Amino acid sequence: MSIKVTAKYPSNIALVKYWGKYGNQLPCNASLSMTLTHAHTEVVLECLPRTQDEAALSYYFDGNLNPAFGDRVMRYVKARPEFSRLLDNFSLRFSSHNSFPHSTGIASSASAFAAIAAALFKAANPALSDDSALKEMSRLARLGSGSACRSFYGPYSQWGQLDEIAGSSNEFAIPVIEIHDNFKSMKDAIIIVESEPKEVSSSKGHSLMEGHPYAEARFKDANKHCLEMVSTLRNGDFSSFISITEREALSLHAMMMTSSDYYMLIRPQTVQIIKNIFHFRKDTRLPLCFTLDAGPNVHLLYPEHIEPQVKEFINEMVIKDSNSVIFDQSGTGGLTLNYVNGAA
Ligand code: PMV
Repeated sequence: MSIKVTAKYPSNIALVKYWGKYGNQLPCNASLSMTLTHAHTEVVLECLPRTQDEAALSYYFDGNLNPAFGDRVMRYVKARPEFSRLLDNFSLRFSSHNSFPHSTGIASSASAFAAIAAALFKAANPALSDDSALKEMSRLARLGSGSACRSFYGPYSQWGQLDEIAGSSNEFAIPVIEIHDNFKSMKDAIIIVESEPKEVSSSKGHSLMEGHPYAEARFKDANKHCLEMVSTLRNGDFSSFISITEREALSLHAMMMTSSDYYMLIRPQTVQIIKNIFHFRKDTRLPLCFTLDAGPNVHLLYPEHIEPQVKEFINEMVIKDSNSVIFDQSGTGGLTLNYVNGAA
């Protein structure tokens, strides 16, 4: 008998950043993200009867075998008894596709590990689909890539234990509840400044927070921002949303620039776009703000109703500097999780 599972999960963009980890992928501070919709990974997992010739695990990306990523997924599967028992009976074949181009600054590991963990979980536990299953999938995804644990809920998801937030945990993410109408339908336009692969990996960046002179202040600040963001999302205050989001983006990059092995991922054009956003906001009083991931590309965040004005603003910048733009929006988390028993 074979099993086939299809899983489609979105990426997410952190508003309050996770930067610094300890133990087994546990966060040094709480974080909060907006779940995306269009930027997603689709994984088909086929569990085929184990034969001598078939590799124990193979990973295909857009139809091409990807042995390096396959090795990473194999280590991930082998390290978890929840999944490794699948290897007793089956050969695992993953075929995946990202809806967005590689190296655009959209966290592909977040959507990829959300989809991989969900697919494996469903293959191992076909009957479970309640809230506790969601928590477990989020926990397992975290062990593949920290930020992946936040892709299970939407439009906003929070990860990291804070006494003030009931049910919060370092192990898994939870949904942010009570979202004001102002924040229910947010847009994210990603201006691609550079599409080269990252110069410094997130793992290296996280590790540079160990012994960082500003680490303690940063973790405290992020936890405070997380609580403030939860209230902001509840009360609908755009100016507080803007100030927390932009300070978080700049703090993340400030940490990189002040670590012992310092580095800089923003580019002159990143700064120019940010300045243009400041001007736009001053001139129009419209609630457009930015955030940055670990890279030079700029995420423009804004409520749906100001899209025409923002698009006009973006078009001007993009035509001038010939950048490309990816338009996305807040979403609800898992997009598909299907189990087919006895697949051919
Ligand atoms: O999930 P990781 O280990 O790739 O780390 C992600 C870190 C940031 O994207 C920079 C911030 C975040 O919270 O997503």
